[in-house]
Amino acid sequence: MSFDLVFFGGTGDLTWRKLMPALFQAWRHGKLPAGGRILAVARDERNHNSYREWLKERLAAAEPAKRPTDDEFAQFAAMVHYLRMDLSQPTDYAALRDWLACRCADTVVMYLATSPHLFPVICEQLGKVGLNHPGVRVVLEKPLGHDLASAQAINRAVSAVFTERQALRIDHYLGKPSVQNLMALRFGNVLFEPLWRRESIANIQITLAESLGVGTRGDFYDRTGALRDMVQNHALQLLTMVAMEPPSSAHADAIRDEKLKVLRSLKPFDESSVTRDVIRGQYRAGAIEGQAVPGYLDEAKVPADSCTETFVALRCEIQNWRWAGVPFYLRTGKRLAHRHAEIVVNFRPTPHSIFPGAQSPNKLVIKLQPDDGLELHLLAAKGSVHTLGSGQEVLSPVSLDLDFDKAFPTERVGAYERMLLDALAGRLNLFVRSDEQEQAWRWVEPILHSWSKDSSGLRTYAAGSWGPAAASALIGRDGYAWAEEY
Ligand code: BG6
Repeated sequence: MSFDLVFFGGTGDLTWRKLMPALFQAWRHGKLPAGGRILAVARDERNHNSYREWLKERLAAAEPAKRPTDDEFAQFAAMVHYLRMDLSQPTDYAALRDWLACRCADTVVMYLATSPHLFPVICEQLGKVGLNHPGVRVVLEKPLGHDLASAQAINRAVSAVFTERQALRIDHYLGKPSVQNLMALRFGNVLFEPLWRRESIANIQITLAESLGVGTRGDFYDRTGALRDMVQNHALQLLTMVAMEPPSSAHADAIRDEKLKVLRSLKPFDESSVTRDVIRGQYRAGAIEGQAVPGYLDEAKVPADSCTETFVALRCEIQNWRWAGVPFYLRTGKRLAHRHAEIVVNFRPTPHSIFPGAQSPNKLVIKLQPDDGLELHLLAAKGSVHTLGSGQEVLSPVSLDLDFDKAFPTERVGAYERMLLDALAGRLNLFVRSDEQEQAWRWVEPILHSWSKDSSGLRTYAAGSWGPAAASALIGRDGYAWAEEY
């Protein structure tokens, strides 16, 4: 299969930090179909060679195992090209069409790694020069809109030019190997399904914790905040994967239909439930792994009086037979104690205990990062003999651990690598459909409205902590605790 992969935003942060390194890994793993061209598009005055030089410097900054050797870079760079484009100029799209037309690749993927306000104009202009024929797919990077109305406006502009099957909305969390394994765990095994419901599960926690701050993206982040940046998309997508009903097949729409049903079943927020069940926070100066770090208000490009949240914890419920009454707790934040993402499924205690001592209920931990694996926490008898009291042994916690990196050492691919290869192959399972995305906005909007009227609920937390104390109180109210607290 010949392909042309075009990156709009070819000199942007996302392209050099995530997309090009992922493509290089795909090439190194021999997974990139032969006969491909990669075209970076941007406004800067560059040519193919100066772009390749620039890229070489960027890739050299990758972690050692992911850095190309000179020889590898030379081979990879032969696929990489550069085209200067002013995205507001129709004639520049004609130049793009001519560049692509010189060999008519089987598949053309346009990856829009630009600011989303440019998506409508890019799509419109691509359509005008005929670059929306069935061989073309368009990949849309988040953030897809700022609220429901802006997301709908983008979707309308995209769907005026491309069919739904040509429009791939990316949520890179869905490409993480453990998320793939969540599907395999639930629907490729018989073990968990009978337990995956309200009768056996007490609560589910989804934590997406980052130790980094906002870095150089202070201006973007300040307009966005943690709810839009992480909850509306990544956290809700994970929640749908955990809570969905078994799909009838592995076909993209069978899966996406089930995910959409979960989003539609989420209990809507109103002002009083936002106040009660949603905690927002902003980091102050602190220390991460022994290093002092500044507070959010001292970060570059962040206004000194900003009320933007860098942390959100919330409690929600899914109103259906499987999950009625089971709280789902979602939590995300910047400058938390560790980079740590996981889903914890806490099972109910045994109905009647015959063993002495406190019983810790079973727990399944799906680890997304930095490690990638599964842990099933059980209770076991060590087998030691007791002569006092009842003679009964106090059970000990043990865990069954599955480390996917060790189990499948050579086959794992990173999230962006996976998503790029899927985009080239036209596999849609891991891309978000417009109705899912709009429903997620519909659900978070009451939170945004309520916050816009009242900024007094913003709490602070020290960098390097696990967020405001109110987040512990939120879950403590139900008699539970966050995974790191027990
Ligand atoms: C992005 C957010 O979508 O995800 C960033 O915009 C965040 O703010 C990033 O840092 C986290 O992704 P990962 O894969 O590093 O956990």
